[in-house]
Amino acid sequence: MTKRVAILISGGGSNMVALAESMRGDHPARPVLVLSNDPDAGGLAKARKLNIPTLAIDHKPFGKDRVGFEAALQTALETAKPDIICLAGFMRILTADFTGKWAGKMLNIHPSLLPKYKGLHTHARALEAGDAEHGCSVHEVTAALDDGPVLGQARIAVRPDDTAETLAARLLPLEHQLYPAVLRRFAQGDNRPVNLPG
Ligand code: GAR
Repeated sequence: MTKRVAILISGGGSNMVALAESMRGDHPARPVLVLSNDPDAGGLAKARKLNIPTLAIDHKPFGKDRVGFEAALQTALETAKPDIICLAGFMRILTADFTGKWAGKMLNIHPSLLPKYKGLHTHARALEAGDAEHGCSVHEVTAALDDGPVLGQARIAVRPDDTAETLAARLLPLEHQLYPAVLRRFAQGDNRPVNLPG
C-alpha cells in the first residue's frame, strides 16, 4: 500500500520540494499535504506548483497556547490521514503529547551531526567548537527536542575559511539527498541508517 506523507514546513521549503519530487514512479509513498505554521512561507507556493494540497495554520493567533495550536494541527492531520509526517524546516517546538500521538511515524531533518548541536545556530556552533566536520541528520521525532533515533547522516568537511553561511549553503544540497534517501527506506519499513557520502 502506498504510504501517505504530510510535510510540515515554516520557510522556503527546499527540503519539502526534494521530498515531494522524490515521491514519484516506484516510490512507496506520495505527498498528501504540505502544512505551514506561517501563511507567508515560500514553500506553500512551491507545493501548490507541485499540485500538493496545502494548508496554513498560523501559530501567532494562538499566542502561548501551544496546546490549542497543536489541536488545530492534529485536526488537519487527522483529515489528511498521513502514514508518515516529515518535518522539513518546521520551526515550532512540539509537546510530548503531540509527538506521542505520532510516535514512530514522524521524521525531522536537523542541520547538525546529532547528538551534537540540538536546537538553533548549529553551523555557528560547529565553527565555534573548531569541528573538522559538520553535517545533517534525519531522525525520528520523540518528546525531547532533536533527540530521537538517527536514521541517516550526511557529512561535509569544514574548511578554514568557512562561515555559518558557507557551511549552510554547502550542507543544504546534501540535506536534499539525505532526506529523500531516508524517507524511501523508512516508507518500506527499513530503519537502517543512511550515511552520505556512502
Ligand atoms: C534546513 O536547513 C533544515 O535542516 C533546518 O531548516 C532549514 C529549512 O530549509 N531545520 C532546522 O533547523 C530544524 N531545527 P528549507 O525550508 O529550505 O527546507
